[in-house]
Amino acid sequence: MAQLWGGRFEKPTEESIRKAIDSVYFDKRLWSEDITGSIAHARMLSASGIISEEECSLIVSGLNGIAEEIADGRLEVTPEYEDIHSFVEAVLTERIGDAGKKLHTGRSRNDQVALDMRLFIRSRIDETKDLVLSLMKTVLDIMEANTDTVLPGFTHLQKAQPTTLAHHFGAYFEMLRRDYERLCDSRKRMNLCPLGAGALAGTTYPLDRDMTAAELGFEGPTRNSMDSVSDRDYLIEFVFDLSLIMMHLSRWCEELILWNSNEYRYIEIDDSYSTGSSIMPQKKNPDVAELIRGKTGRVYGALQSLLVMMKGIPLAYNKDLQEDKEVSFDAVDTAMTALRLFNGMLPGIAFDKERMRESAALGFTNATDAADYLVRKGMPFRDAHSVIGKMVLYCIEKDCALGDLTLGELKCFADTMGEDFYDAVSLETCISRRLTKGAPGPSAINGEIREAKEFLSSVCNPGRN
Ligand code: ARG
Repeated sequence: MAQLWGGRFEKPTEESIRKAIDSVYFDKRLWSEDITGSIAHARMLSASGIISEEECSLIVSGLNGIAEEIADGRLEVTPEYEDIHSFVEAVLTERIGDAGKKLHTGRSRNDQVALDMRLFIRSRIDETKDLVLSLMKTVLDIMEANTDTVLPGFTHLQKAQPTTLAHHFGAYFEMLRRDYERLCDSRKRMNLCPLGAGALAGTTYPLDRDMTAAELGFEGPTRNSMDSVSDRDYLIEFVFDLSLIMMHLSRWCEELILWNSNEYRYIEIDDSYSTGSSIMPQKKNPDVAELIRGKTGRVYGALQSLLVMMKGIPLAYNKDLQEDKEVSFDAVDTAMTALRLFNGMLPGIAFDKERMRESAALGFTNATDAADYLVRKGMPFRDAHSVIGKMVLYCIEKDCALGDLTLGELKCFADTMGEDFYDAVSLETCISRRLTKGAPGPSAINGEIREAKEFLSSVCNPGRN
């Protein structure tokens, strides 16, 4: 029987339930984290005088050998073992004999698996941070090239006021900035080492928990051993971070799908990120964007599963916690795939600036500016709103824009109307007057771009934060 326990049992586990309770099928993915953690543990056992230096070097070279062989495919993690921890320990003992049996001194699979998952999540946080940053760089490039690309801003999916592509994409830059900062916060909070917590109540061996924590790149050891083995907050936090990233990507994809449609024609997604139809020869579908939108639900599902899985677990370790793996692995894979796809798709999008401008010129996106014009001429805003509303109705009937009305027509609505009205409601003026911080006007958007650049250079250069 390939398992780590059995002394107090009179019968083996029923073979048919093994498949349902063993985790090796999916936790084999943690082989590298498991071995890294074991090496640090063995070194600490030796430094603390709990095992000899010879035993330690046998263990370390045995573990390194196992890692190399799994990495290059010579050694396969097979399911006769209950989990990855049992597999590694059994293979090690088979190879180096009694020293292998000492590896688990002062350790439990409870603190071992808690460590493996933290190492796994920490490295995925770092990869996700890199993917988010690379997307932010592309967004910034697009912003810089499009500070005067005018398009309609929408509310309720109705044309509202003119803005620019730089300003529109600046909104996504901010979402990604928060995503990045959230990842940094989560990393900081989770970067403590649970190793040494034992099964739940620490151990009687003089373990040096600071040493293993430092060796594994943690800020220090976790503070309470019961919490250490039963805490999965860091996992939930990361999957929440991923859920928000997916939510941002999904909203963005929805817009790109609309903008790519025949009705909008603001953009064209590259052929390499589109697919055709088996029956309709004309079709070019934005499948990648649709899939990212679709995959969002899977990540939310994982978050929900983890929250529900955790809510009734008494301290400390319970087997329910094993259910943390499959859903979080899937959430991590899904979100990172979505980020990679988006990173690939965005630089290849062609923006039809003409078409965006035309679209902004229709639909009375300058109506607020027309009302502001009357305010500047001395009319209270509420009255100006009503006057321009009537003008809009008149234009709808005439099928024209506000700027197409003659001065005579304008004066019928308000006698303060003058020649300068036409310039006041031109798209260029509408944009250039919007100079409040965060608005699309030239000095405002340039300030936003400058801040975005500063942010990227501050996070891209120093070490992980
Ligand atoms: N496969 C287990 C898990 O993922 C490892 C810890 C097992 N501990 C135990 N006491 N059964 O949680």
